[in-house]
Amino acid sequence: MEQQTEKKKIVFSAIQPSGTITLGNYLGAIKNWVSMQDEFNCIYALADLHTITVRQEPAKFRKNVTDAYASILACGIDPEKSLFFIQSHVTTHAQLAWLLNCYTQFGELSRMTQFKDKSAKHADNVNAGLFTYPALMAADILLYQADMVPVGADQKQHLELTRNVAERFNGLYGNVFKVPEPFIPKNGARVMSLQDPTRKMSKSDENVNSFVTLMDSPEVIMKKFKRAVTDSEAVVRYAEGKDGINNLMGIYSAVTGLSFEQIEKDFEGRGYGDFKTAVGEAVVEELRPVRERYEKYIADKSYMQECYKKSAEIAQKFSQRTLDKAMKKIGFVF
Ligand code: TRP
Repeated sequence: MEQQTEKKKIVFSAIQPSGTITLGNYLGAIKNWVSMQDEFNCIYALADLHTITVRQEPAKFRKNVTDAYASILACGIDPEKSLFFIQSHVTTHAQLAWLLNCYTQFGELSRMTQFKDKSAKHADNVNAGLFTYPALMAADILLYQADMVPVGADQKQHLELTRNVAERFNGLYGNVFKVPEPFIPKNGARVMSLQDPTRKMSKSDENVNSFVTLMDSPEVIMKKFKRAVTDSEAVVRYAEGKDGINNLMGIYSAVTGLSFEQIEKDFEGRGYGDFKTAVGEAVVEELRPVRERYEKYIADKSYMQECYKKSAEIAQKFSQRTLDKAMKKIGFVF
């Protein structure tokens, strides 16, 4: 990774290991992470420090992190090409986050919609970490001098804050941080709930039929797609008000690479039953090798450990340079 730093642009992204990975996480984020590995210098992390802003049961938390690591390797993240580590293993993240907390205003953090949503949802645990979450996210990104950060729409406000904090810091001390650009992938599908297609697909949904996980069996996947909510028009076409069909078309397109136009043509005169079966089968085939590789990785803890330790070691060295630079500028004694 290090010798390529000059040539290729640096991409940083992270995902919270807060439970099973859904088809939404896969098509919306991870599939793009995989496809960026050749063109860019990619740095990916499991944001476990972010996860504890919501109370976790220790054994389950531990399992979620190893499961997420195995799943993402299984999706095709190649630790020979990219760095892929666990955030808490690299000490600079929490360290820079503290510094950035002192350059982030209470007012700007109060405006974060995710904070407002999450504090309403977890009213009994509105902790300081939940509030300063974006400063930790800014640290994640700025430590690696990232040029680009692939994010979904829900994280755009946090990235905007990251840019503001970086510019503020640079304004005070000179060029310490690269100001990152958001990267909204061309084919990054926003996958909606199969039961309420006006809402994002979420693993915390009470209705298990509303989401597909990477670990669902082919039978379960087919069943969930067959039950997906559609509309009464019975025409496969992309149009306003047809949220269910639009969502299924988005999923089908992301998996097969077919354009919406082509999909409409292929399913002309055919019912929703046929279409749902086709989408389900395409997803089953896409996820089959992922599930097989997951089984292999999860059974080989020492291989996974080797991967995340090696990545964390490189990330630690790389990020330490940025942390030291920032600390020297602030005036810490060395
Ligand atoms: N906050 C992001 C999410 O919940 C995860 C995340 C943590 C992240 N650090 C990041 C994403 C840095 C991009 C860059 O989805």
